[in-house]
Amino acid sequence: MNSNKQFAIFIMGVSGVGKSTIGKLLADQLSIPFFDGDDYHPEANKKKMANGHPLNDDDRYDWLLNLNRLANDQIANTSCVIACSALKESYRELLKKGIETNIKWVLLHGTFDQVLERIQQRTSHFMPTSLLKSQFDTLEEPIEALKINIRETPQKITTFIVNELQKKSEFGIIGLGVMGKSLARNLASHNFTLSMFNRHVAKLEENIAEDFKNEHSELSKTLAFDDLTKFVNSLQSPRKIMLMVNAGKPVDAVVKSLIPLLSKDDVIIDGGNSHYKKTQERIDLLNNHQIHFIGAGVSGGEQGALKGPSIMPGGNADAYKLIQPYLESIAAKNKHNQPCCTYIGSGGSGHFIKMVHNGIEYAEMQLLAEAYFILQNAGKNPDEIADILESWSTAASSYLLEITISILRKKEEGGWLIDNILDTSGNKGTGNWTTIATAELGMPSTMIPASLFARYISAFKTERIEMNEVYSTDRNNIFLIDEGELLNAYQLARIVNHHQGFKLLSQASNTYDWNLNLSKIAGIWTNGCIIRSTLMEELIDLLKNDDNILLNSTIVLQVKALRSSLNRVVSQAVLHEITIPCLSEATNFLNGYSTANSSANIIQAQRDFFGAHTYQRVDDASGTFYHTNWEE
Ligand code: 6PG
Repeated sequence: MNSNKQFAIFIMGVSGVGKSTIGKLLADQLSIPFFDGDDYHPEANKKKMANGHPLNDDDRYDWLLNLNRLANDQIANTSCVIACSALKESYRELLKKGIETNIKWVLLHGTFDQVLERIQQRTSHFMPTSLLKSQFDTLEEPIEALKINIRETPQKITTFIVNELQKKSEFGIIGLGVMGKSLARNLASHNFTLSMFNRHVAKLEENIAEDFKNEHSELSKTLAFDDLTKFVNSLQSPRKIMLMVNAGKPVDAVVKSLIPLLSKDDVIIDGGNSHYKKTQERIDLLNNHQIHFIGAGVSGGEQGALKGPSIMPGGNADAYKLIQPYLESIAAKNKHNQPCCTYIGSGGSGHFIKMVHNGIEYAEMQLLAEAYFILQNAGKNPDEIADILESWSTAASSYLLEITISILRKKEEGGWLIDNILDTSGNKGTGNWTTIATAELGMPSTMIPASLFARYISAFKTERIEMNEVYSTDRNNIFLIDEGELLNAYQLARIVNHHQGFKLLSQASNTYDWNLNLSKIAGIWTNGCIIRSTLMEELIDLLKNDDNILLNSTIVLQVKALRSSLNRVVSQAVLHEITIPCLSEATNFLNGYSTANSSANIIQAQRDFFGAHTYQRVDDASGTFYHTNWEE
């Protein structure tokens, strides 16, 4: 085999396709042991079949467990070939238990008449021909299998299988930028055989894949290409290809050039920050070619991609099975050693939740920036601010808090690096998309736009300087801040931010029929990704039954305890003209969301006044719409 790893190769298919013949030939050629699954049937099963009765799931249960034990025992030392009909998905689940990344399925298939003819020629087999139909009826073809038609000679079929398994790679990566390279190294260090492709652009991108391969010992067995056709042909069928190219046109360009090279059931995974609606379009386009497209959000930056990112794959559920062992092996692990990667839902759901992840990330970053700014205005230097943030680490532990402390402590000649970083923040668009999505879906996830617009305001550096000259006030009165209150305010604002983010997911799930599991999503965001935190860990349970965490009894107690601090911090900052758009949005949202009788009656009356848009009445529960001639 083309790796150090041991594999159990299951030769499967209905009775009569030649599983044993080909299994034996294959095992001989690979010099590994062969086992015939039929030999592991209990006598009762053999008798039942000989009497013309098909086996049911209960009959097969112990048999499948026996074969799973056999496969587990074998691959502890050596690869092996096992011939086994493995007709149903549920059977294969049992067969591969515990060895999910060490299994290869080879499906031998032919028409009913082809197989019938073969069976009629056999005399010694216990399977009567009458059972053949039931076998065909039961067969659920596995998407992940290498499928081979039995019309070829056993020798040719065997040579084909050997060639696929020994000379070809299990997984392909296109695009060797920072994230693509890290994911490639991560896959290779998990012992997956890999083909890597990077385009050739004269004088700009030459020999990228080959050079990269030579830089890292773990890549010594990978295959490196700058020719797309050769790359595609180097992959085992059905092919699994992960795109790590820039979102937008580059994805379309690669997809377009891949289409003529791919075959039915191949899978393309887009691991970039693509827009969820584009992902749906690409799914539809590739569906016409019987090729699967999975939109997978990947979070964690370069280090995450290398050591374990959080992965959010969405698209066709069957296609996910094909790539599941790869993605779940390379993903970060949560506290219970479960992968931070799970099937999210159909369509563009994976990219949608990655987009919302980034939206939450924007607000989490902005809240820390605001805490820093408040403390800076209170006269603290970066080291002192870092000390204060460090003292928050037990109460509000998160990856972003951790890195902010390190950032604040970073020195360069003459002072702190942070003091020399220009205060205009960039963005790559996902915060913008989340803002549009929350508006489109009618959801008040207001902290994400607040943090996005804070970035936009920061970009107007020249105007800010001009404005400052005109509007800056003498701040004679010293700004004092209670650090405990600031921590309280920060914690409450984070709760509101997470509430808004998950509510947005919940609404999208209803609108697009994604059936998202919010608790599971919180689970895969507890490690590997940028917004991992202890709060996220707590949300796993809180989101099990309700999407409104602000009504959860534990959170209610926290909100009640923290709210006055948030109000005071926001008021003090506003009185001192210190910009805190996200903290103040948290308090405004809480106020609005918990106001039973709001001022929207005025809005309705105004709408009806100038546009006859009608209104409903509090004294009419039927929901009837009224119009008033206001100027009569
Ligand atoms: C992640 C990050 C990553 C990246 C985003 C945000 O989850 O690993 O979110 O995807 O940092 O592109 O970038 P901007 O702040 O530039 O929009």
